[in-house]
Amino acid sequence: MDLSIDGRTALVTGGSKGLGFASAAALSREGAKVAIAARTEATLAAAAKTISAQSIIANLSDRAGVLGCIDRTRELIGNPDILVINTGGPKPATFAETTPEGWREAADQLFHFTIDMLTAFLEPMKQKGWGRIVVITSFAAQEPVANLLYSNALRAGIHGLINSVAAEAAGHGVTINAVMPGFIMTDRMAGLGLDLEKVAKSIPAKRLGQPEELGDLVAFLCSDRGAYITGQAIACDGGILKGI
Ligand SMILES: NC(=O)c1ccc[n+]([C@@H]2O[C@H](COP(=O)([O-])OP(=O)(O)OC[C@H]3O[C@@H](n4cnc5c(N)ncnc54)[C@H](OP(=O)(O)O)[C@@H]3O)[C@@H](O)[C@H]2O)c1
Repeated sequence: MDLSIDGRTALVTGGSKGLGFASAAALSREGAKVAIAARTEATLAAAAKTISAQSIIANLSDRAGVLGCIDRTRELIGNPDILVINTGGPKPATFAETTPEGWREAADQLFHFTIDMLTAFLEPMKQKGWGRIVVITSFAAQEPVANLLYSNALRAGIHGLINSVAAEAAGHGVTINAVMPGFIMTDRMAGLGLDLEKVAKSIPAKRLGQPEELGDLVAFLCSDRGAYITGQAIACDGGILKGI
């Protein structure tokens, strides 16, 4: 299937590893001119080289870092046709362990970051009459995970945001969707201290996902073929979510 992404420009934040990298790699493979952003220079440079992308060093938990990333993106690739919004996950916590400061930090990292990215890049897409936005969230937005209170709450809020923005943008050729990873084998997953064999047995597909499986979904949503899919949250989770 020709996804017709050739010649489009794309920014993938959190793009040096894991799900962001897999998304950037899929877009690059389909012919997009890609920029990836992350904090760690060496990992970022190596990732960018592998997929022939531009690299942007930025701490996206910090508003100055987010605004710097937006400026640098415009210098390197202009306003992107495709935007994949992704970053590291917030700290684990039960509700009893959450703090007002923790809520503010997590909200900056996930919710306000998403709003800043949309504020910068949605309007130029609408003016151009073509744009694709994908936010990497989590299945936890629909099926809360114990101990991940910040993520459960804020990602559900992001879905509400996306649904609302999608309705405003749809008439301008711009789609916006969320993809919800389940348990996908990345550095972050390896570092969570979970018994991954036990996790795999609990998933209907009986295995963890591979980052490329999510990356290919992102590329499809960012293509011309994905033009009629907007305002959706689509799981890539081996069958964990069962609601309709
Ligand atoms: N893997 C899963 O199965 C899964 C499931 C549900 C949800 N998620 C969510 O999906 C997102 C990506 O997960 P992943 O597994 O791909 O994680 P990962 O392998 O740790 O990759 C995270 C990427 O984001 C970058 N990043 C992290 N914090 C950043 C910051 N403050 N500023 C700029 N870049 C930052 C990292 O690079 P640097 O560290 O160098 O900055 C890296 O490129 C996370 O929000 C995670 O919670 C993942």
